[in-house]
Parts: sequence; structure tokens; C-alpha cells
Amino acid sequence: MRRGVTLWTLVAWGGGVLLLVFIGFSVHPKKELPVNSEESHTPLRSLQTLKMALPLSQNASPEVAQPITSVGKDALALKDVGRCTPGAWIEGLPPLYIVTPTYPRAEQLPELTRFAQTLMNVPNVVWIVSEDSAEPTPEVIDYLNECGLKTVYLRVQMPAKYQKEKNKPRGVANRLAGLNWIRTNAKNGVFYFADDDNTYDIRIFQQMRWTRGVSMFPVGLVTSLGVSTPIVKEGKVVGFYDGWIAKRKFPVDMAGFAVNVQYLLHRPQATMPFKVGYEEDGFMKSLGIKASDIEPLAFNCTKIWVWHTQTKKNNPATPVVQNTATKGTNLDIIKTHLWKGNKNGTDDKSKAKG
Ligand SMILES: *[C@@H]1O[C@H](CO)[C@@H](O)[C@H](O)[C@H]1NC(C)=O
Ligand SMILES: *[C@@H]1O[C@H](CO)[C@@H](O)[C@H](O)[C@H]1NC(C)=O
Repeated sequence: MRRGVTLWTLVAWGGGVLLLVFIGFSVHPKKELPVNSEESHTPLRSLQTLKMALPLSQNASPEVAQPITSVGKDALALKDVGRCTPGAWIEGLPPLYIVTPTYPRAEQLPELTRFAQTLMNVPNVVWIVSEDSAEPTPEVIDYLNECGLKTVYLRVQMPAKYQKEKNKPRGVANRLAGLNWIRTNAKNGVFYFADDDNTYDIRIFQQMRWTRGVSMFPVGLVTSLGVSTPIVKEGKVVGFYDGWIAKRKFPVDMAGFAVNVQYLLHRPQATMPFKVGYEEDGFMKSLGIKASDIEPLAFNCTKIWVWHTQTKKNNPATPVVQNTATKGTNLDIIKTHLWKGNKNGTDDKSKAKG
């Protein structure tokens, strides 16, 4: 999600005698850099500023296997990752609440379909799809009902005052709606903010399920660094590696952390700010996390099991021509499924990003 291009070029000084060369990190914009944002000189953030504390006490022993704690050939084998029938529910396995912000666009249904089919391989999932839209998208609701997963559909709109801003805090209102739902309905398990356009290895779900406080893991294809990840030494998170540190205490990606539901419920003040670029940092700060709360997953953050992937933007479909060759055929139905653009004529790009 890191944004903006920060290429410090040459600074001539002292009548051209001395040249200072600053090379910053070229950052791939998934979001634009907030105005006046600090540019990064280093992609590293140390955790020294975080208070150390005793680790959380271990929860009651789960009835199903714990995550694997060492890397071995068997540990990495994909065959036993728990693929299952869609919507499978195994007693004793903590539930995973997956909050997916989405918004109407041509790619919405394909993205949701792809992600749903990932989640079909994961047991005990409640998939909370939270749409930023003036009206529910019927195709989305139909799909959620058809897909066989346990789904919750929420719909909210970004508050009007933020819609007017040039740099909109996308996906915040709908993530907050998901959080609200969890606070009201969930009692245990783990939640995760999963955008509809990312790619997920199902092993990350298998591991994040056992999060006791806040777990973190690498996210690939983020900024020109290619990854955003905690820095892990001897099994402990000691800092962060991210292409856009800015002034963030927790320079993490939205897809790079999962939180225990009880941990959230014990922190009623926790919320996500409507502040572009600082959504994750603000949320982490509001949770009041300590270094010891951070559980590095994906084998001490040595595996990349989540990536930012982007589907090419598509324009609204050209209307199906109405003539004797098309009328009375399947095209009468197909045309109802084609993306016609937002009804209010607003551009997709102005809407919430997941
Ligand atoms: C992570 O590192 C710690 C300390 O080196 C080690 O004890 C532990 O087994 C590692 N965990 C995994 C899953 O590899
Ligand atoms: C257009 O947007 C307004 C304000 O959000 C909404 O009330 C109205 O229903 C929308 N109209 C259509 C056709 O989507």
C-alpha cells in the first residue's frame, strides 16, 4: 500500500563544489502519498521505542493441532493444510473472522470469487464482506449466498466529509463496520483484514488462527522493496522493514497482521483512523500493542504467504447491441451481468479501495 515516489535527486551546494546525493526509496503507489508526508530515508524501523512486557499467557490448550513451530520438510508439505469442503466447521478449532472491504467495480465479482475459493480451503471461517456503496450490489449478495461459506454482508459508505477529499481514506468505513460486527457477535477466535485483491497462501490462515495477541507476517509486492515485513531476530520482532516508514511506529501492511478477538474485545477504544497511509499504524497504536504481543508467523517471517496483487482496471462494458442476432438469446441474460459503471456516474477510482 505504500505510496508516492520519493527519489531524492542531487542537491547541489556551495557553488557546485559539494554534491550531496540522497537516494530514497522508490515506492510503488497503490495509494497516493499523503500531502506533507515524511519521506523515508531508511526502510527500517526499530522496535526499541516499544515497551517490552511479559508475553500473554497461553490460552487453554486447543483441541486441534497447534501451529508448526519449526521448519522442516514435513512442516512445509502442502498436502495436509486442511483443505476442506466450503464452510466446513470443526468443533474446537478457533474461528477466523475475515473482514474484506470491497466496492462496486468491474473487477469486484471476479476478485471476490477468487478470494472465496481460497477461503473454501480453510475451515471455521466467517467471511465478513463489507461493501462501500450507496446500494448493495445484487451480484455480490447472490454470490455470498451461493458460495457455501459462512458469510456476513455489511454495507456502509465513506462519510461524506472524506468523500470530498482528494486523497480519500479508502476502505476505513467498511473495515470499521466489520470490527463493529465482530465486537457485537464474536466471542473468540482471530480476525484479519483481507482485501479482495490480494493473493493468499492458505497456510497463513492455518497459522494465524492461533494468534494470542497480534500476529504479523510478511506481505509481498509492497513498494519497490518487494515486501513489507517485521524484522525478526531469534524469534522476536525487533523492527520493521517497509518502503514507507514515514513517522509510523508500526510500519505494517493491512494484510500483514491478525488480531485475537478477545484481545480486541478487551480494548474497546481500538479503532482505525480515517487517515490515508496511517490506517494500520493508527489501529496498532489504538490497540496499545507491545513488542511482546507481536507473534511472528510464517516461520519467523521467512515465508511470504500474502501478496498485493492487482487486477487490471476494466472499463464498463460496451452495451450488447440489440438486433435479431442477439435478441432472444443468452445475451439477453449475459448483458445483465456486465459491469455498467457506477449508477451515479462516479468513477471507480474515487471510491473506496479495499
Ligand atoms: C523462530 O525462532 C526461534 C528462535 O530462534 C526458534 O526457537 C523457533 O523454533 C523458530 N520458529 C519457527 C516456526 O521456525
Ligand atoms: C446516488 O447517490 C446518492 C447519494 O449517495 C444516493 O442517495 C442515490 O441513491 C444514488 N443514486 C443511484 C442511482 O445510485
